[in-house]
Amino acid sequence: MGKKIYVPPIKSQGIKTKLVPWIKSVIPAPFNNTWIEPFMGTGVVAFNIVPKVTILCDTNPHLINFYKALQNKKVTPAIAKRFLQKEGELLLTKGEEHYYSIRERFNKEHNPLDFLFLNRSCFNGMIRFNRKGGFNVPFCRKPERFAQAYVTKIVNQLEYVFFLLQFNDFEFRCQDFNDTIALGKEGDIIYCDPPYIGRHTDYFNGWDDEKENELFHALNSTKASFILSTWHNNDYRKNDYIENLWAKFPILTRNHFYHVGGRVSNRNPMVEALITNYNAEPIEYEQERIEQLKLFEKIAEYKSEVLVE
Ligand SMILES: C[S@@+](CC[C@H](N)C(=O)[O-])C[C@H]1O[C@@H](n2cnc3c(N)ncnc32)[C@H](O)[C@@H]1O
Repeated sequence: MGKKIYVPPIKSQGIKTKLVPWIKSVIPAPFNNTWIEPFMGTGVVAFNIVPKVTILCDTNPHLINFYKALQNKKVTPAIAKRFLQKEGELLLTKGEEHYYSIRERFNKEHNPLDFLFLNRSCFNGMIRFNRKGGFNVPFCRKPERFAQAYVTKIVNQLEYVFFLLQFNDFEFRCQDFNDTIALGKEGDIIYCDPPYIGRHTDYFNGWDDEKENELFHALNSTKASFILSTWHNNDYRKNDYIENLWAKFPILTRNHFYHVGGRVSNRNPMVEALITNYNAEPIEYEQERIEQLKLFEKIAEYKSEVLVE
């Protein structure tokens, strides 16, 4: 059984890489309709599930622009490799001064390659924007990290998504979750991973009581099936919205270990929850490995037809 989880080229603090198998296991089978994500973030969930038809949305325009650029081939693995090699070498010689010059350039020009470079050289792979919408994560202080092996790793991650987007029906939209949830029809699945209430907030990640209630009303009235990721509790507190708002729906829980920041106090195990509007019975997908092999065959064929280097 194929258990490999593909890590996308963009990182973020709320990335669900470790929860993908669990999320995948609650998808009712067979599923041939549209997979909709109002809060796509890095896209890791859909990029591993690879549904027949996928609509991925987010209010952060830089995430959407990045994946649209891969889709329309403005950014290819070869272009990204050249770019990262050039900027990585400058980072090695100039150090953090170079990081901050790219950050300034990105905040003026919004180039998707600058976004990728910053995301992979900033502190902890964070995505955070100030009140004016400017990317403001500091440098990770490890210029030596950007060596050839690191560039290869990023390009491999980018290549997987690049090919995935060439062969599958993905649509990216920059819009609010209400507009995205409104697209859901009977038989579709809406996977929701909103910013966790009471946790990190920034320009594109504001989340409060009003938003959580809005989300509840939108999901409560959808004809589609939904899967909502949220936190259940940690050692210190519980998420009161589960009892007060979501209690009428089935809830599954599981432990998850978060690495946020370097401080031990930030590394508490968090009990994760999946809330659904159907009775989810987790099952493992036997089909997975076969689908992955098919994709690799297609990629090999495609690579032999076009010159990507
Ligand atoms: C927890 S992250 C999603 C993480 C994603 N599942 C992953 O694994 O990478 C939440 C995302 O919601 C987006 N967001 C915040 N408020 C939003 C809103 N009102 N409508 C749509 N997206 C929003 C943020 O930009 C962020 O990318």
